[in-house]
Amino acid sequence: MGGPMERVIHLTVNGDERTVAVRPNDTLLDVLRSKLGLTGTKRGCDLGDCGSCTVILDGEPVKSCLVLAAAVDGAKVETIEGLSADGQMHPLQASFVARGAIQCGYCTPGMVMAAKALIDRNPDPSADEVKEALGGNLCRCGGYQRIIASVQHWREGAAGVEPETQEGDREYQVVGKSCPRSDAPAKVTGSAVFTEDIVLPEMLCGRLLTSPHAHARVVSIDTSKAAALPGVKAIITGKDVSDVLYGVSPARYDEYVLAKDRVRFVGDEVAAVAAVDEATASRALELIEVEYEVLPAVLDAFEAMADGAPLVHDHPRFASNINTRVDHDFGDIDKGFEEADAVLEQRFVGNFVYQSPMEPHCSIAQWDHSKGAVTVWSSTQVPHYLQKQLSRVLELPMAKIRIIRPYVGGGFGGKAEATALDFCSVYLSKITGRPVKMVYTREEMFLHSRGRHKQYMDLKIGVTKDGKITAVDFTSILDGGAYTSFGVITAYYAGFMIPTLYHIPSYRYVGRRVYTNKPPCGAMRGHGVPQPRFAFESLLDMLAEQIGMDPIDIRMVNAMDPNTRTVNDLDVLSCEFKATLDDVRERSGWDGKRGRLPLGKGIGIGCGGFVSGAGYPIYRSSFPHSNAILRILEDGEGATLLIGAAEIGQGCETILLQMAAEALGLDFTDITMGDCDSAIAPIDLGSYSSRVTLMGGNAVKMAADDVNRKLYPIVARELGCEPEALASGGRRIYVREAPHLGMEFAQAACRYFSANGPLVGTGYYQPPPNLGGDFKGATVGTSPAFSFGSSVCEVEVDLETGKVKIVRFTDAHDSGTVINPLTYHGQVEGSIVMGVGEVLTEDVLFDEGGRVANGNLHDYLIPSIADAPEIVSTAVPSYEPRGPFGAKEVGEGSMVPVLGSIANAIYDAIGVRITELPITPERVLEALRARRAKG
Ligand code: FES
Repeated sequence: MGGPMERVIHLTVNGDERTVAVRPNDTLLDVLRSKLGLTGTKRGCDLGDCGSCTVILDGEPVKSCLVLAAAVDGAKVETIEGLSADGQMHPLQASFVARGAIQCGYCTPGMVMAAKALIDRNPDPSADEVKEALGGNLCRCGGYQRIIASVQHWREGAAGVEPETQEGDREYQVVGKSCPRSDAPAKVTGSAVFTEDIVLPEMLCGRLLTSPHAHARVVSIDTSKAAALPGVKAIITGKDVSDVLYGVSPARYDEYVLAKDRVRFVGDEVAAVAAVDEATASRALELIEVEYEVLPAVLDAFEAMADGAPLVHDHPRFASNINTRVDHDFGDIDKGFEEADAVLEQRFVGNFVYQSPMEPHCSIAQWDHSKGAVTVWSSTQVPHYLQKQLSRVLELPMAKIRIIRPYVGGGFGGKAEATALDFCSVYLSKITGRPVKMVYTREEMFLHSRGRHKQYMDLKIGVTKDGKITAVDFTSILDGGAYTSFGVITAYYAGFMIPTLYHIPSYRYVGRRVYTNKPPCGAMRGHGVPQPRFAFESLLDMLAEQIGMDPIDIRMVNAMDPNTRTVNDLDVLSCEFKATLDDVRERSGWDGKRGRLPLGKGIGIGCGGFVSGAGYPIYRSSFPHSNAILRILEDGEGATLLIGAAEIGQGCETILLQMAAEALGLDFTDITMGDCDSAIAPIDLGSYSSRVTLMGGNAVKMAADDVNRKLYPIVARELGCEPEALASGGRRIYVREAPHLGMEFAQAACRYFSANGPLVGTGYYQPPPNLGGDFKGATVGTSPAFSFGSSVCEVEVDLETGKVKIVRFTDAHDSGTVINPLTYHGQVEGSIVMGVGEVLTEDVLFDEGGRVANGNLHDYLIPSIADAPEIVSTAVPSYEPRGPFGAKEVGEGSMVPVLGSIANAIYDAIGVRITELPITPERVLEALRARRAKG
């Protein structure tokens, strides 16, 4: 047993004796995943920074990616798969499920194993002890406080968790209840399959060669040495791939699968290799010889627009490197400023932040030559758009491209478009006739990026002495990087969402998205909106101070009302923004704290909201945006829901099942989600723009109503009533006015099946017309519904070190009907913690050659459990007429208020306003020094 470089080691893994041959560089993680098939242990960074690979080795938690397998011969290893016994979850696992500590679930196995090691030595840990033990385990989805509670209360398992119910005017049986996530048991036991966990027979490993230069002409590529390397099966370069450009917005398709003649950023894809294993593929990349002619690069948005700057793209429509221009003017802005009693203007600067999902992007393709068709497994947020782009670029009908979305370990916008991995794995599989798996390394995740655009924002607001906004003038320059990605939409969203929160009678927005030789920016949670909202909320506080008004009061006098057409023609129906302001004022103790805290402590408010799905699809299409099929099982005892939506951690699978159960009158557990597989599930446009709750939910409800429409006549005939007199609930169909009269759902379904064959309901959702105006760009920013929210942040600033500690967040949101309070609050908490990172620590940095300087999770600092503040989240009563059961979005809107609330709290604490993100200790100290110098 074992090759020439291999040695045999013996391990006891989850109580079983295992013997494996390992190579000198194999890590324990490699052995567990690849040789023993224990894929519950996740690969997140390969550098020991994320903790997703944590296992227990001889009683101690270790990051298995840092442990050489050969060095642990004879060791005892415990992995997530060994924690549950006889099919029963360990109480610690049950506690994670019941307390809502799981979202995408990619960090969960490592987190649970680190926690298991803790409770093995200290069964009753304090919160601080939990924080210390889990300090090396990162989670990008949640707010950490549910993880802390799950570990502290592990003995109780699921017991002792009082399911939360969202109160509202309407009575529901499943909607509004805290059902534990349907996918949580699989995620907490390690059985949930993510794309990288999939192993197919004869599968090859694919890798990408990327540009080391920010801007260069590709003179020649010599692949002969690499091709001669034993184990290399295929190599492709730009000449081997389609001449069809791809991207997101049809007006700006500007990317080739592999560079044809130019590379435009460090990381631009140049060639791809398929080989028998990762080591061979990596060695092959080293042997590919590329001759570049280095060209001058532009790394700054303003330099890129200057006369004579090198052009990133030569097309005349992109003169001065301007990729997107937005010029919007609504109302009489000059008159508005004339009517103002106070006018302030200020430059604000955002930062380039990156989504950093814990799961690296992965794609597997398997070409079937007998059918001329391909199956792609991808960790994508947008299965349909991926299918569409593959279809365009490969010039294949969509029917020949089958997309399967396994579990996705977080996306936040970073997985919302087709990638080079998806395309190249298909090409390589077609050439080799074997399945090809490709995974980004953690550094490649940063290089591929599609993170948040850095915005330079000049904002001017006028208000009356009573605080009424009279005019707003906003200009944003967005540093877009080398390609368009979602950037056209970002440039519009940045300005278009400003008038949705407050009544603004006159508004001008100038947006310029600029190409630079940096990784392309795309859609990140809140998509273009958080930075302008940070600017707006900061300047509004500055104006409030100038006119002597309380920050909450100035927001209240301007707050949006229901049933409003905004100045830029957006259609707002439900709006309980004022209720969120009242709520956070009360629960944060605002009136007793604002302006009354000692130097170094502060409290601040920020507000914001977001669309509940885009009113128009990304490409022109008459397809409904969401489509669903409910298939009732033949015995009538359950149903399967089919929808091509993307569960990426946000919990959409669970709430769609809840909505189906509610409409059918069944229990939540009666309905199973079918695979997200384009061969069986109908199109849903995917997880972006916070669209699934409203759009997917409406399609699911319609499908359930369709089932009811087929069943009610059967029951009505039996009971001698009209179908319209019937209702569903408690697994029965009954007479609404006489609930004791009815029929079991299963009995009715069986009768239908016996007489008619399969019982299937279908539904779809198409946004209503006239959601926006008829000017250029009026479609971007339209939505059937908008969320609204307010967040109060309390901080402590160390005046010696400049370090900011977030103490507490009090958040209230209007998201319409809350379908599931457990997942809802989990989303809010995760947004807040992500926002904390954006404001305080996160910033993608570049060296002078345009290379990402901190492309790892050690130097790019996302919040850890040690940074987790206390968060109190509330949903105010609200009902959106266009939403299913009155629901609208929460996942992105809850991030938007965070930036302004922290910035305003820091100002309250130190009396100096910092207008550039991130607000690092250095910037705090510099601001304090500048104030002292001014006297
Ligand atoms: Fe922790 Fe997604 S649940 S990274």
